[in-house]
Amino acid sequence: MASELIQPHGGELVDLMADDPAAAALKSQSRDLPSYTLGPRHLCDLELLLTGGFSPLRGFMGKADYERVCTEMRLSGGTLWPIPITLDVDAETAETARAAGQLALRDVEGVMLAVLTVSDVWQPDLADEAEKVFGGANPEHPGVNHLMRNTAPFYVGGSVQGVQLPVHYDFTELRRTPAQLRAAFEARGWNRVVAFQTRNPMHRAHVELTRRAAVEADANLLIHPVVGMTKPGDVDHYTRGRVYQHVIKRYPEDSAMLAMLPLAMRMGGPREAVWHAIIRKNHGVSHFIVGRDHAGPGADSSGTAFYGPYEAQEMLQDHTDELGVTMVPFKMMVYVPGSDSYQPVDQVDEATATLSISGTELRDRLASGDDIPEWFSYPEVVAELRRTHPQRSKQGFTVFFTGLSGSGKSTIANALMAKLLERGGRPVTLLDGDVVRTNLSSELGFSKEHRDINITRIGYVASEITKHGGIAICAPIAPYAEPRRLNREAISTNGGYVLVYVATPLEVCEERDRKGLYAKARAGIIKEFTGISDPYEVPADADIVLPTVNRTPDQSAQVIVDHLVAEGYLQ
Ligand code: PPS
Repeated sequence: MASELIQPHGGELVDLMADDPAAAALKSQSRDLPSYTLGPRHLCDLELLLTGGFSPLRGFMGKADYERVCTEMRLSGGTLWPIPITLDVDAETAETARAAGQLALRDVEGVMLAVLTVSDVWQPDLADEAEKVFGGANPEHPGVNHLMRNTAPFYVGGSVQGVQLPVHYDFTELRRTPAQLRAAFEARGWNRVVAFQTRNPMHRAHVELTRRAAVEADANLLIHPVVGMTKPGDVDHYTRGRVYQHVIKRYPEDSAMLAMLPLAMRMGGPREAVWHAIIRKNHGVSHFIVGRDHAGPGADSSGTAFYGPYEAQEMLQDHTDELGVTMVPFKMMVYVPGSDSYQPVDQVDEATATLSISGTELRDRLASGDDIPEWFSYPEVVAELRRTHPQRSKQGFTVFFTGLSGSGKSTIANALMAKLLERGGRPVTLLDGDVVRTNLSSELGFSKEHRDINITRIGYVASEITKHGGIAICAPIAPYAEPRRLNREAISTNGGYVLVYVATPLEVCEERDRKGLYAKARAGIIKEFTGISDPYEVPADADIVLPTVNRTPDQSAQVIVDHLVAEGYLQ
């Protein structure tokens, strides 16, 4: 019997996996092929290409598809497709791929997942892509940021043949390919399926919203969270996975199903909404829920939203006839205490009292240990979140000092360490500049490149310590703003981060010259000396600025302790 489920995009569900003999042949051919190691984003894209989640695509886009997708949201043949799916490579790989005509695509462990038969190699204009696809060049937009900072300069397009799907060891029962999900719907006799896309933990409002959507669409419900890559700073997918498993039990029996999608989101708002609908259509979904600011990155640091709150709904609405997917638009849900119920905000009159808790407020409540009410979430969900997001006084943190040589960083860092050890509670590790350079970074010199490597290493170790609930105190010069920024970004996803600028003026450091280094630097005996013959970029983002003149190390360390208490890291 022919399936009554919605047809895949382009009419046919693509399956790019080679059968066993073909896969074995590809593997033996690959010995003579140049290899390329895929990053996390590539792996997600490859998986959805191979399983047909990206039907009708049969590989990474060539130049003609790419250009038309950027300008018109269409493949070169005219099919609707809003987001470029490209393989970015360095110049050397671009050259070898062009010469060999094929590329073995491997994971970080060297396992060959697919072979790409090269059709095009070109150098894209990434700024232009950012402008066209994301509507701007602001690097605070995660999609733009990825293009401008993490994308290699060449694109290689061509068809792919799959040898092995990327391997996952987590939630294996919940990862369903389009074909598997279609089969599961058919086995249940589901013809109309409404999907809910999410990258966040689900609470009562989401359950109410999706239940209403299912009733409105007269369809069964698919909870289809993204577990590939989401917005930096989101709750990790392991925690979310456990939350969804709790939440799915809150629906009437056999009405809803949970499956995980290995998608790398771009946070492209309106274009991404259309893309999400196409991907769901390939998974057999006929109706798609789109709420406020769907797949948008929110606002930039000046408070300006990247996209209008309902722009994604409008963009998808314009294409639903062509796609055949019905959009189920939703307004924000608010809690009405008077009736102990959730309602869409536009259906509640102004006189009615309502309650809601924003994502930021929820994070604050988790951090402070404050109550999270039952009207907001389910106790089992809150317990899950508290397990991975302990209150601040139980989280790890890093105190990262920066300042000129001789500014007093090490002395204050030592004083701080003693005070923290005296209070007890967490292990404390001191990564002092000089000490790090005798072990972790013993082979490094003082060029900009080496200093950046040194700071990145310190940041990595501090990040691990922080993640595991310890305290890292770092005290290098760290003269450059960019590696400091990257460290803050990495560490603060794992716990607390406090940047302390030890603002002793150069004249004072030089006057003290405890190690005699300034005299040597002035005499040209030591080259590239910070402040004398090498730059120091004063931080604009310091959480604490310590003017050490007329202050003892003990007083300076106490300022930091007071800050940590005020922020909730110490009690
Ligand atoms: S950096 O820039 O953060 O990687 O430097 P750091 O690892 O903190 O190392 C600084 C210590 O190395 C000694 N030293 C120099 N500092 C700066 N510039 C040059 N060229 C240099 N050569 C040696 C110096 O003792 C620094 O220690 P502190 O404790 O800062 O005085």
